[in-house]
Amino acid sequence: MREFDDKNITQAVIHRLSECADPRFERVMTSLITHLHDFVREVNLTEAEWFTAIQFLTDTGRTCTDKRQEFILLSDTLGVSVLVITLNHPADNGSVESTVQGPFYWEGAPDLPRGSNLAEGVKGEPTFYSGRVISEDGHPLENALLDIWSGDGEGNYDMQIPGEKGMKARGRIRTDAQGRYWFRSIRPTFYPVPTDGPVGRMLRKMGRHPYRPGHIHMIVSAPGHLPATTHLFVAGSEYLDSDAVFGMKESLVAQFDRHPPGIAPSGERIETPFYTVSYDFRLRPATAVAVEGNV
Ligand SMILES: [Fe+2]
Repeated sequence: MREFDDKNITQAVIHRLSECADPRFERVMTSLITHLHDFVREVNLTEAEWFTAIQFLTDTGRTCTDKRQEFILLSDTLGVSVLVITLNHPADNGSVESTVQGPFYWEGAPDLPRGSNLAEGVKGEPTFYSGRVISEDGHPLENALLDIWSGDGEGNYDMQIPGEKGMKARGRIRTDAQGRYWFRSIRPTFYPVPTDGPVGRMLRKMGRHPYRPGHIHMIVSAPGHLPATTHLFVAGSEYLDSDAVFGMKESLVAQFDRHPPGIAPSGERIETPFYTVSYDFRLRPATAVAVEGNV
């Protein structure tokens, strides 16, 4: 057949995959084409809308830089990121839940000793974080790595601050022989995802707010265990009920206890009120994926 109508075009495009050598790619593309065509038919897409979509995706690509990933933001705000994460990282047996990585991860944060202040010179209320990294059966995991990042106490990440060239509020901390970690940073506040690009325009047109509840990010990993890309959310933060990227998980909400000025857990005297928060990260064994794959 050389000519196609609005119905048989879908099978015609799928048929062109008949010599695809990669079965997984063939399956993904077949499904993508099927749903994309069904979507176009369902909404009866106009040419103007099609061109708007082309311009939008072009703008999204052009907005990406080495420090800004507008496509991840698009995926996040459409709920795709958290859907992929939830499918690939089921949390069971009490293991820590995963959530979105977001667009502000910066590989290569400095390795710092336990107890370090990650937020030297960063705006925000001092907060002392502590807890353990443990296995599924509760054993401490020594030398587990927490790769940590957050915005400042006003919701700005280092890479968003004009003139700020270096890393701020980032660091890599390892656990001790008892699986314990502790470090100082700030109490994160809610903040808007970037709204000065195409995704911001999309959110406004949808009538949506761009805010995320206060949270600190970390990738927690240990030998022989599955890494978890996750957050701790500040209990009571605004927007916990309507996270713009749908990343909120109840199990990741942590209590930040407020203390008057005085001696901090680090032993230093803090002249302002400060916070403490404690959270244990339970990691799944690396074998969990192999077992599920065989079922
Ligand atoms: Fe964030």
